[in-house]
Amino acid sequence: MSEWNTEELIDSDKRFVWHPFTNMREWCAPEHEPLVLVEGRGGILRDSRGREYIDGNSSIWTNIHGHNHPHINAAIRRQLDRVAHTSFLGFTNPAAVELARAIVDLFPTDSLSRVFFSDDGSTGIEVALRIADQYWRLRNSRKHQFIAFKSGYHGDTAGAASLGAAAMFHIGPGHWNFPSIQVPNVRALERLSPAELAKIAAVVIEPLIQGAAGMQLWSSGTLRAVREWCDRTDTLLIADEVMTGFGRTGRMFGVEHESVIPDMMVLGKGLSGGYLPLAITLVSEKLFSIFDGSIVDGKGLAYGHSYTGNALGCVAAKASLDVFEKEGVLEALQPKIRHLTSELAGLADIPCVTEVRQCGFIAGIEVAELPEAPLADQAAEICIAARKHGLLTRPIRNVIVLMPPLCITTDQVTQAVEAVGTSIIEVCGGRSFKE
Ligand SMILES: Cc1ncc(COP(=O)(O)O)c(C=O)c1O
Repeated sequence: MSEWNTEELIDSDKRFVWHPFTNMREWCAPEHEPLVLVEGRGGILRDSRGREYIDGNSSIWTNIHGHNHPHINAAIRRQLDRVAHTSFLGFTNPAAVELARAIVDLFPTDSLSRVFFSDDGSTGIEVALRIADQYWRLRNSRKHQFIAFKSGYHGDTAGAASLGAAAMFHIGPGHWNFPSIQVPNVRALERLSPAELAKIAAVVIEPLIQGAAGMQLWSSGTLRAVREWCDRTDTLLIADEVMTGFGRTGRMFGVEHESVIPDMMVLGKGLSGGYLPLAITLVSEKLFSIFDGSIVDGKGLAYGHSYTGNALGCVAAKASLDVFEKEGVLEALQPKIRHLTSELAGLADIPCVTEVRQCGFIAGIEVAELPEAPLADQAAEICIAARKHGLLTRPIRNVIVLMPPLCITTDQVTQAVEAVGTSIIEVCGGRSFKE
């Protein structure tokens, strides 16, 4: 007998809750039975009816070392007994200070040396955009426009959405707060005229792989080429590592693969191990040093939220960094990445699979369109079918995402890939619509 009254929970959810990015008409339809997730341990989640699943997308790309990790749990509990939250406005706290130092220590000396805290990936990006904008104004420059890459996603608060989410999700005005342009690739940067160039404040890029675009890989050397272009044109480089950070690509940060140091880096999602909402905008000293005065005289950064520097989030993040070291997480991950590669190879043979993409421990399995079903519906159906095979994940349009916590075992990797393959065959019936 489960301790949860699933029917009552679902009924109340449908009456009182509004879910993100969700068709609420479909969600609230009587035949829709949402899963109520109640527990997690390691890479496994359990629902209110006692069924278990591999957390195939790391609970929306956040979880790193598994659920209920004893070291992170203990750190949060210790902090909870001291104090849960105190103001970061005019005060500081040990948890935030220690995390800031530990994060800065992950980068070469004097590179990314200042930490600005916020709450999630979107606000981390907002901070980066505001810093870049104000930096150039403080230098009496006309640079105020941002470049983002086509199909990139950097969050959905108004400023972050101005980099592309508004167009991607067909929401709101095309241009929100920050003037920005989208370019398809590095070659397009080279084609900008001197007049256009004079306006560019910063380029924002997801290193190595564009997540929300459907796990689209950049060709090798792209990030380095963007860095070099930024250096040549005196443009700031903002690396959005909200998805790629904390081991997902096989290294701690995506930028390491191409030995790139950006001017700012945004971290979120996995920063707290996937426990609590927390983000960081890491800033170079070159940028920080310009902000040397008051808000009133325009030399301070007028930004910050009530929960900035939250102690529970910060101790969780520091504990997550400890786990990386204590458990040799990145070393242990390498054979799992190779295992994932060999397991994924089998999926490419399924007739309606058009492409399998992998970057470290992130995979995207793209399926072909069936004439009778819109792409997104079909991929969603595959993910729902995967639940019966013990896997939870969520598609991006026609791409099935597989991005489990780094802690999962090789057997669980096999099980997860098998669940995807079986579900694709069940839904697409092995039909091929490849050209
Ligand atoms: C690369 C990237 N940047 C920013 C964000 C926004 O993060 P959040 O949803 O935490 O606001 C996301 C979310 O998926 C992302 O993938």
